[in-house]
Amino acid sequence: MNKRPIVVETHALIKIYGDGAEIHALDGVDLVILRGEFLTVMGPSGSGKSTLLNMIGALDKPTGGQVIVNGEDLATIRDVDRFRARTVGFVFQLHNLLPALTARENVEVPMHGQSIGEREMRERSEHLLELVGLPDRMRHLPSQLSGGQRQRVAVARALANDPAIILADEPTGSLDTQAGGEIVDLLEHINRNQGTTILIVTHDPKVARRTRRILTMRDGKIADDHRVESPVREDLRDLARSRLGSMLLNGAKDQVLAEIGLDQHDEETAIETLRLLLNRTLTDQDTHDAQ
Ligand SMILES: Nc1ncnc2c1ncn2[C@@H]1O[C@H](COP(=O)(O)OP(=O)(O)OP(=O)(O)O)[C@@H](O)[C@H]1O
Ligand SMILES: [Mg+2]
Repeated sequence: MNKRPIVVETHALIKIYGDGAEIHALDGVDLVILRGEFLTVMGPSGSGKSTLLNMIGALDKPTGGQVIVNGEDLATIRDVDRFRARTVGFVFQLHNLLPALTARENVEVPMHGQSIGEREMRERSEHLLELVGLPDRMRHLPSQLSGGQRQRVAVARALANDPAIILADEPTGSLDTQAGGEIVDLLEHINRNQGTTILIVTHDPKVARRTRRILTMRDGKIADDHRVESPVREDLRDLARSRLGSMLLNGAKDQVLAEIGLDQHDEETAIETLRLLLNRTLTDQDTHDAQ
């Protein structure tokens, strides 16, 4: 088996907010992300997704546990700004572009202080804006761009220093379906062609399915971690988690038959088959191991 290098490793990661009523935003997260992975983090609001991203990107410090990115233990890093600029690229729901700077200047922001000459900076930012499909928008200000285009600039900016990982927190959250889909296309393209490791936080199952691994967080823990295999298996997983799925797995057959309006013997066989498939899906999920 080919052993790809580890890009991110967290061990028993804990983040507690507040001093009075403590909030356990991360409650013991163990995670390994390999180079070249394209994965999503899902989970209900408040489950700790953004907190996890912030810990990996050194935007905030954990209360306990360890984060290692690209071989560096974040607790021992002296120059955090430098680490962030070189090693991680951030894309947020609201692109956070500087309004007074052109698209190209925004892309160049993380390059400053990286001992890159003016000329190389310019070449690189032009190349990146071409890569994200905006070769003719170099001199536009953010206010002169559409939401989707601004997010493309944010992706180009995240790539400025060829980071080990891109951390995207709901990058499609403020876009319509089409623009959002195009951002996912772009991230997929970058992952495939440049081999950049990309971690996306999303609430959208359609976005998650386009990646190759889905982590689901619940109450500060990773409740599920599975590889995306085929659309059918993903459908089955969704079904297993739905009301009907829970009835199929736990409920009485009569209840299921009544729910879907079936009462024939043959259809009972169909239900048995479905139940079997769902059970199998859940079992595979439990035994899944990150490669
Ligand atoms: N700076 C903070 N101070 C205090 N509590 C915080 C802080 N940031 C987050 N929290 C709390 O930590 C928990 C996890 O928050 P987090 O932002 O990671 O959730 P999330 O999964 O990203 O949610 P969403 O889907 O709504 O973005 C929440 O209960 C939140 O209220
Ligand atoms: Mg969040």
